[in-house]
Amino acid sequence: MRRFVIGGNWKMQVLTVDDAEKKAQTIASTIENIKRVEVFIAPPFNSLFNVKQIIAKTKLRIAGQNMHYIEQGAFTGQISVLSLLDAGCNYVILGHSEPRRIFGESNQTINLKVLKALQHGLKVVLCIGETAKEREEGLTREINSSQLSECLFGVSDEELKKIIIAYEPVWAINNPYLNPGIEIKPATPTQAASAHKMIRDWIRKEFGNPIGEWIRIIYGGSMSQSNARELLEITDIDGGLIGGASLTAESFTPIIQIAEELSKDIEELR
Ligand code: PGA
Repeated sequence: MRRFVIGGNWKMQVLTVDDAEKKAQTIASTIENIKRVEVFIAPPFNSLFNVKQIIAKTKLRIAGQNMHYIEQGAFTGQISVLSLLDAGCNYVILGHSEPRRIFGESNQTINLKVLKALQHGLKVVLCIGETAKEREEGLTREINSSQLSECLFGVSDEELKKIIIAYEPVWAINNPYLNPGIEIKPATPTQAASAHKMIRDWIRKEFGNPIGEWIRIIYGGSMSQSNARELLEITDIDGGLIGGASLTAESFTPIIQIAEELSKDIEELR
C-alpha cells in the first residue's frame, strides 16, 4: 500500500503572515496523532519562511505554490527554486490549472520547472486535468496523457520517484474564474477511479510496472470531509490536494483523519 499524502493548497486566500502562522499552528497541533499520513500545506510565498519556523518541530511539511524555471535573474513577480529551498519547502506545486488556464502556463514551461525543481532536490506535486469542455468532447485521456508526457519530458525513472501526480479535473476545482458558467462539482468516485487508473497505466507503460505501482496519484477538486472517504477508498487514489477545505483545521483535519483510518497497514512516519 502507498502512503497517503494530503496537501492543503491555500492559494491566495490567506493574506497575512499572522493568519498563516495561526492556521499552520492549529493544523499542526490537531494532527499530532496522525502517524501514517504525509501532510503538507502550501501557504502564499510571503509567509512560507515564518510558517516553516512555526511547524519546524512537527510532521507538517510545506510546499511552494509555483516557481520559475530559472534560478536567478530579472524576472519580475517570479520566485526561484533557491528561495523556496531557503524558506524550507519540501515540495513545490507545479502545473496547477490556475496558472495553466488563467495565466497561460504551457506544458513546456511546466516541464522546465519540473526539471529545475528536481535538479535541486525539491519534490514536485505535478497537477494535470481536463476542462469540462475537453471532457464533453471525449478528450479526457488525450489531454491528461499529453500533459503527462510533455510535463515529464526528460524526467528519469529515479527522478519520477520525487514526483506526486495530482489529478485535478478543472471542472471540479472550486473556482468560478476557472469554470465560468458551469456548475462546479467534485468528480464522482467512478469518474475519479477511471481517470486515476488511466494515469497509473500511462506511468506503467512509460516508466515500467514497479514505478507505476509505487508512484502516488492524488485527487484534487472540491474534496471535503463529505466525499473524502469514498474517494480515498479507491485503489488508485493516494491522497488529496485540497483547496477551500484546507483553510481551517475544522474542515482539513477530518480529511486527514479519514486517510489515517484507511492506512492501518502502513508503517508510522518518523
Ligand atoms: P478546491 O481546490 O479543493 O477548492 O476545489 C483544489 C485545488 O485547486 O487544488
